[in-house]
Amino acid sequence: MSNRPIGIFDSGIGGLTVAQEIYTHFPHENTIYVGDTARVPYGNRSPETVTNFSREIVTFLVKQEVKAIVVACSTASAQALKALQHEFPIPIYGVIEAAATKAAGETKTKHVGVIGTRGTIQSKRFQTMIKSAHPQITVTAKACPLFVPLAEEGITTGPIASQVAHHYLSDFKSTSIDTLILGCTHYPLLENVIQTSLGPEVRLINVGQALIEELKNNPPFPLNPQKNPGNHQWYVTDDPEGFSRLTTRFLNPSISVKAKAITLNSV
Ligand code: DGL
Repeated sequence: MSNRPIGIFDSGIGGLTVAQEIYTHFPHENTIYVGDTARVPYGNRSPETVTNFSREIVTFLVKQEVKAIVVACSTASAQALKALQHEFPIPIYGVIEAAATKAAGETKTKHVGVIGTRGTIQSKRFQTMIKSAHPQITVTAKACPLFVPLAEEGITTGPIASQVAHHYLSDFKSTSIDTLILGCTHYPLLENVIQTSLGPEVRLINVGQALIEELKNNPPFPLNPQKNPGNHQWYVTDDPEGFSRLTTRFLNPSISVKAKAITLNSV
C-alpha cells in the first residue's frame, strides 16, 4: 500500500477526461497531473518529438515520487509508451490497449471505427492491436485534427461543431461500424455531436473509461491505505490561469483547480 501519488499527463487539457475517471474510481488516491500547454497539440508532431516531450514529463513526475503513471494522451500512448516503459522503472499505462480490447469485445458487426489525431491514426496502434488479436474484425480509422482545437476552445455543441463532425464522420455512414473508439482524450467533450452525427446505433468507446475500468478491476499498483479524499495537484508548462479556467468543462464542478506553472528542460 502506498500513499504516493499517481502521475497523469497529457499534451494539454484533454487528459483531464482520464483524470476525472481516476478521481471518481480511485477516490482515495493522490494525483499529480501535468498538461504540456506550452507545446499542445502533440497530434501533428513526429513520434521522436512526442517521445522527447513525454520523456521530460515522466522525468518530472518520477522526481515527484509518483508510484505509477497514466499517459492520458492517445498520441503519446501511441508514439512514446513503449520507450517510456523501457526507460523508466515504474509502471506506466497508456490509453490504447484497454479501449482496443473493449471495442473488439463489443462489436457485433465485426467492424470498428477509430478516430484520433493524425499521429495516433498514422501510428496504426489501435488498428494493429485489434487486428492482431481479432483478424476477422475490420477497422476503419480517420484522423480528425480539428476536434482538438474545438474542444480547447469550448466549441463542443452548435453548428460549427456539428459541421466539423459531419465533415469527418460522414465516411463512416457507408460502413457497417457499430462501435467507434474516441481515440483521443479530448474527444469525450464532443461526444454529443459525434453521437448525433453517427446515429444512436453506434456505440462510442471512451479511452479513459476503458483504461480505468480495467485498472479498477485489477489495480496493478498499491492503493492508498488512507481513506480520506485524494489530494490533487495540477502543473502546466504555460498559462496556469487559462488552464484552471478551462477545467470546469472537463471536470466535475465540485473540483476546483489551481494549476501551477512548471518548466521542463526544453520549454
Ligand atoms: N490529448 C491528445 C490525444 O489524446 C490530443 C491533443 C494533441 O494533439 O496534443 O491524442
